Amino acid sequence: MENRLLLFSLVLALLLLMDSSSAQAPGFVSLDCGGKEGFRDELGLEWSPDSLNYGESTNISVANETRTQYMTLRHFPADSRKYCYTLTVASRTRYLIRATFLYGNFDNNNVYPKFDISIGATHWSTIVISDASTIEMRELIFLALSPTISVCLSNATTGQPFISTLELRQFNGSIYYTDFEAQFYLSVSARINFGADSEAPVRYPDDPFDRIWESDSVKRANYLVDVAVGTEKVSTRMPIDVNRDDRPPVKVMQTAVVGRNGSLTYRLNLDGFPGTGWAFTYFAEIEDLAPDESRKFRLVLPGNPELSKAIVNIEENAQGKYRLYEPGFTNISLPFVLSFRFGKTSDSSRGPLVNAMEINKYLEKNDGSLDGDIIANVVSGYSSADWAQEGGDPCLPVPWSWVRCNSDPQPRVVSILLSKRNLTGAIPSSLTKLSGLVELWLDWNSLTGPIPDLSGCVDLRIIHLENNQLTGPLPSSLMNVPNLKELYVQNNLLSGTVPRGLLNRNLVLDYSGNINLHKGSKSGSRVNIVIGSSVGAAGLLIATIVSCIFMRKGNKRQPEKDQLGNTLPLQIVASSKSNAPTEAAHCFSFSEIEDATRKFEKKIGSGGFGVVYYGKMKDGKEIAVKVLTSNSYQGKREFSNEVILLSRIHHRNLVQFLGYCQDDGRSMVIYEFMHNGTLKEHLYGPLTHGRSINWIKRLEIAEDAAKGIEYLHTGCVPAIIHRDLKTSNILLDKQMNAKVSDFGLSKLAVDGASHVSSIVRGTVGYLDPEYYISQQLTDKSDVYSFGVILLELISGQEAISNESFGVNCRNIVQWAKMHIESGDIQGIIDPSLGSEYDIQSMWKIAEKALMCVQPHGFMRPSISEVLKEIQDAISMEREGAMVRDGHSDDTSRNSAHSSLVLGDLAGADNFLSLDESVAQPSAR
Ligand SMILES: *[C@@H]1O[C@H](CO)[C@@H](O)[C@H](O)[C@H]1NC(C)=O
Ligand SMILES: *[C@@H]1O[C@H](CO)[C@@H](O)[C@H](O)[C@H]1NC(C)=O
Ligand SMILES: *[C@@H]1O[C@H](CO)[C@@H](O)[C@H](O)[C@H]1NC(C)=O
Ligand SMILES: *[C@@H]1O[C@H](CO)[C@@H](O)[C@H](O)[C@H]1NC(C)=O
Ligand SMILES: *[C@@H]1O[C@H](CO)[C@@H](O)[C@H](O)[C@H]1NC(C)=O
Ligand SMILES: *[C@@H]1O[C@H](CO)[C@@H](O)[C@H](O)[C@H]1NC(C)=O
Ligand SMILES: *[C@@H]1O[C@H](CO)[C@@H](O)[C@H](O)[C@H]1NC(C)=O
Repeated sequence: MENRLLLFSLVLALLLLMDSSSAQAPGFVSLDCGGKEGFRDELGLEWSPDSLNYGESTNISVANETRTQYMTLRHFPADSRKYCYTLTVASRTRYLIRATFLYGNFDNNNVYPKFDISIGATHWSTIVISDASTIEMRELIFLALSPTISVCLSNATTGQPFISTLELRQFNGSIYYTDFEAQFYLSVSARINFGADSEAPVRYPDDPFDRIWESDSVKRANYLVDVAVGTEKVSTRMPIDVNRDDRPPVKVMQTAVVGRNGSLTYRLNLDGFPGTGWAFTYFAEIEDLAPDESRKFRLVLPGNPELSKAIVNIEENAQGKYRLYEPGFTNISLPFVLSFRFGKTSDSSRGPLVNAMEINKYLEKNDGSLDGDIIANVVSGYSSADWAQEGGDPCLPVPWSWVRCNSDPQPRVVSILLSKRNLTGAIPSSLTKLSGLVELWLDWNSLTGPIPDLSGCVDLRIIHLENNQLTGPLPSSLMNVPNLKELYVQNNLLSGTVPRGLLNRNLVLDYSGNINLHKGSKSGSRVNIVIGSSVGAAGLLIATIVSCIFMRKGNKRQPEKDQLGNTLPLQIVASSKSNAPTEAAHCFSFSEIEDATRKFEKKIGSGGFGVVYYGKMKDGKEIAVKVLTSNSYQGKREFSNEVILLSRIHHRNLVQFLGYCQDDGRSMVIYEFMHNGTLKEHLYGPLTHGRSINWIKRLEIAEDAAKGIEYLHTGCVPAIIHRDLKTSNILLDKQMNAKVSDFGLSKLAVDGASHVSSIVRGTVGYLDPEYYISQQLTDKSDVYSFGVILLELISGQEAISNESFGVNCRNIVQWAKMHIESGDIQGIIDPSLGSEYDIQSMWKIAEKALMCVQPHGFMRPSISEVLKEIQDAISMEREGAMVRDGHSDDTSRNSAHSSLVLGDLAGADNFLSLDESVAQPSAR
């Protein structure tokens, strides 16, 4: 789509830069975003400043980072626009493109940015910064099909989008050829150098294409863990014959790991997966084997028994020692958490050996707007204008500032908004080819020449050409634009007569101010606004008044402008959410409550705030009545706080507040009755009856609760912070849907401020340590508590325990963190889950839970992110469950065991339905 955007000055600039840096490998572009001048780095790569005319450059300083390209970055406004780099490439050539992001707290804000990066119209990745001094990197391999490629930042969710470097590396050969390369990019997930002699990656000049081969000794969370006993590094100085120059560099092949005890095992998280991808391993025999020795092994991937059939014999496959053998899969389906093993065959004397590995994910290309080429043509006539520099696809992922598009998968341009842009010359004829065009705004420019034939734009409704210097007649072809409703051509230099067909139509037409343009052939009667004759007299009057008001107010109906004078898409300026008026809380009479509870007969729970009674209203509705203890710290003020708050909140995952009652100094709040009690009881309490809820149900409960919390955080104005999330505040209804309860400690977050200060409250074990220390309450305090709940769901352990977590550890967070970070997730999984869970979904939740309990609020994800992760885990789990219930071929599972657990599960279901029929209500 970008193939005609050649004439951008930016592109020209890049072409010049590339010429001047021809000393290094051809086809390398290294942009130092925000940089001021070019330089050569210690690797010998030539860097050039990115000369963009938007965004701002900033200097940053990050401990231990001395590379010049990381001392600057370019950041962009957090608005609804996209900001693009356009790079020149050689068509039909493969490239690696690499974008890096080092936040460095450039805005002195510590709000970690989150935004999207796209390549052309294709969403590439979401950049989520979680640490000010860690470089985020994204790499993509693509076959260039057009002379330029654009990389755009957009969709600032938090913070300001920014970029540190953008690098383009041209490949020479075809190692990355795939059958799918016209429709798919390869997004790089892992590129590993096994047995590396240091933590430093191998890259240029050892790798002439500057791929970054990551050392296997770098320890990252859940990356290359579960290393088998007996794994040893080996290396050689002998040259390795890698055959062709785009194979892994010799230096990478000279090191390897060997499984001395017969196995090599690893587990790693694959960013972007699950999905289908391209995965290759690289082997070279670099040890001396005696003549009677052999090295033969198999790849074992859980769930893929077929793959284990092939036997690797490196020397035989490569036809010699010190030669490359590179088996792989051009299209393999892989999970997010990849566990793999190379196991020696029984007749092999040596254990397996592996030198390197590469895994890339297929990323489907988006073809972009159908009008991309036409718009590129329009733009090419204005190469020096700011508005023509926006780059990327005109519609995707977000439209240019002066374009609006429809929402088709391959969008069409529906509006061109180029009022007051100093356009000169003729109206670009390409515009007439925009077959989806509805509105054309070219008013207040200096356009000259005739009005082109617009009859190809069959949907065109509104045309603004006024206040230009257009000449020639008002073309009769306009009569062939079937949907035309408004036509403004006043104040031009048009001549001749107004076609009768236009005058006879139901059309708002203004052609005043064209001294040589006349209504009919005989007279020069000046009709400013002609309304079609089919409109009746009254209609005419109204229409005229409306139009007049509209005329007088000038560009009232024009889309609004932002500070830069750019036209904003209309939906952006749509009015923001208004504060709904506070609904009055329903007041129950005391006698009503007394009757319903039969004089407070059935106590169903008690807590710090008071006692909860079961009740049934006359209409059969079951209720829970919380009678607040008079000496409870929840005094009158908190009471009214809770009442007002609760009456405003309605969400299916929040326990419904029905009203309140005050009598004789006693305060009561009335909620819907929740039949299945608290989550806590189901995890640890009497309701478990020695059985517990299964993993998928736990995930669904987590999802429900997260939705409730998300609503409090994002759906209420001002946002509401719960402050006391815990398993006993998550209640379950008849259908085991979870709802969050007890806003007794909730306080309205101060609108506009990021935190409110108040007395620290909450429950030990769930309390955000940062809040405890600083007394600064934010929504991230709830996220902390929710992380604790996730850990409880995984482990079936209570948040605080004197026995469960070993010596010197009373707290689930410390305990779980220790296990998860050392890769030992099995050590914390609730034994009562048996093996009826998908290890990947478990990992996903465990990792997110750890993010939630990070010591500092800004390091924690938002509840919405957590929710998304839970939902992903649920879909993984559902797929996994289908596999498990069907043909279980996962080698890590024991089938006898799993059928036993299935039996248990059926029992659990019975138990739940049984429990429903027992009318014994549970506490809330
Ligand atoms: C960044 O640093 C360079 C050189 O150290 C200096 O010339 C430039 O003014 C700095 N820019 C900003 C925005 O501080
Ligand atoms: C910087 O390097 C020093 C010495 O290598 C190390 O002690 C320190 O932890 C590093 N700091 C950071 C922020 O990585
Ligand atoms: C922007 O990002 C948010 C959250 O990451 C996502 O929900 C939304 O769909 C994105 N918008 C666009 C236009 O991609
Ligand atoms: C690319 O291929 C050409 C011709 O085969 C060769 O001369 C050149 O050295 C190669 N470039 C690199 C960087 O390997
Ligand atoms: C690994 O092999 C060594 C000797 O080769 C042996 O002493 C050791 O017990 C083995 N370890 C395991 C866990 O099998
Ligand atoms: C890979 O294989 C899957 C399943 O066989 C297929 O659906 C897909 O189209 C193939 N190609 C890519 C690029 O995923
Ligand atoms: C149009 O030109 C005038 C005068 O040269 C200038 O002041 C104005 O900013 C320009 N407008 C745009 C949108 O470029």
